[in-house]
Amino acid sequence: MTKETKTRYYQALRHMAQTMSSATTARGTLRSVIKATARAMEVAGSALLLLDPDREYLIPVAASGLSDWYLRKGLLNAQKSLPEVLEGKAVAILDAATDTRLEYPESAAKAGIASLLCVPVTHRGEIIAELRVYSRQQRQFSRRDREFLATVADLCATVLERWRLEQALPGGPTAPTGAQMPRSPSPIAPISFAHPSEEEFARLLDFYRIDWVYEPRSFPLHWEDDKGSEMFTPDFYLPELDLYVELTTLKPRLAAEKNRKVRRLKQLYPDINIRLLNKKDYHRLLAKYGHGPLGEAKVEGIERVLLSTSQIQGRVRQLARLISRDYEGRQPLLIGVLKGVFCFLADLMRHITVPMSVDFMAISYYGENSEAVQITKDLDTNISGRDVLMVEDIVDTGMTLNYILRYLRARDPASLRVCTLLDKRVRRLIEVPLDYVGFEIGDQFVVGYGLDYRGEYRNLPFIGVLNPELREA
Ligand code: IMP
Repeated sequence: MTKETKTRYYQALRHMAQTMSSATTARGTLRSVIKATARAMEVAGSALLLLDPDREYLIPVAASGLSDWYLRKGLLNAQKSLPEVLEGKAVAILDAATDTRLEYPESAAKAGIASLLCVPVTHRGEIIAELRVYSRQQRQFSRRDREFLATVADLCATVLERWRLEQALPGGPTAPTGAQMPRSPSPIAPISFAHPSEEEFARLLDFYRIDWVYEPRSFPLHWEDDKGSEMFTPDFYLPELDLYVELTTLKPRLAAEKNRKVRRLKQLYPDINIRLLNKKDYHRLLAKYGHGPLGEAKVEGIERVLLSTSQIQGRVRQLARLISRDYEGRQPLLIGVLKGVFCFLADLMRHITVPMSVDFMAISYYGENSEAVQITKDLDTNISGRDVLMVEDIVDTGMTLNYILRYLRARDPASLRVCTLLDKRVRRLIEVPLDYVGFEIGDQFVVGYGLDYRGEYRNLPFIGVLNPELREA
């Protein structure tokens, strides 16, 4: 490295440190830092990409020297775009047009990007973002280049943390109202929505914990001299549903124009899933997934949605991760009591990564023909010496589980643990040990996702609260 480069890097870091102590907003600081990085490294552009809470997507929060078109080329999947960075490694790409580690090599080529360097941004040992620089000429990045970028990444981590703190403070720039931070991978500053209906839609999605990204990507609809002369940027992308959503305003002329664009987009990009929605439509869309006013009203007898499909699925994945970690090197036997548990057990086991087996039993319930609880279907497996994980849909008074645990313990398993999706702790009569709990819920009768009321509602993809009047009937 020449002395000149060394001086440039030193001066850039000094300038960044000064900006950090003088700039008023975190976003302003980041913009300035990103710009100074590209200048110091003599590259065409640079970008800071924030990892979303589920560590799936990379969202640009500050960029310099890159066209809007390139930034919005598509939602970057962190697992597909330079995945080694998520392992904490710096990754240098010499030829962006051919390197398969990039998710969109053709876009990079089109934007004239030849080489790039990417480093992780780490806070307290956890990767929270990625910092990238882009060069128009092929470039071998030196050890010093990597060190410089890693130092800038450390500075970015501090600023990002400051931003998070700002957000958590009452009256902060986008202080969340509920106890929960919004799950959407929202950029660093409050988003300026083009229309109030978009903001309302975003709020609705947040309420039901559906991840979204605002205006994530621009699609060229017509070209002139190889450049997009007409672009279309859908309002939202919902990663879980792999769906783009465009909201129409109330003006019919604009709605017709949007209709034309959406038709053209579907023609040009048949793999893209896009929906054009008016207000009524998007209520219907949410209803399909068990959300929103129509979602509740559609199912007779359901008072409200307690846990949405995506909330359930997210938690099931987390539980499976914990179980896989705890049973590493062992082969657990999962036991479910029919029938309520079948949805939960089926989803849970598909996310468990250690070898496992499954068995079912059935028992009689109070109010059925038998005088006392009894096993109506016994296990097919000998559980002696096995690591047994009892999987329950819901634990209410604890009487059912207590009976089953006694029954299983008598058969001498090597270990016996319990995983339940729902815990109605307030109603407990008999204390039972619970090792994994999906959600603690209040004193309400719930149905859906396998749980029934007189044999009905098991097929609902969400968990809803049953209207008490109906229960009494
Ligand atoms: P426990 O013996 O009182 O813990 O009752 C557990 C069983 O009662 C569960 O396996 C369910 O079959 C049923 N149960 C308890 N609460 C609910 C509910 O809210 N919805 C549906 N079934 C429930």
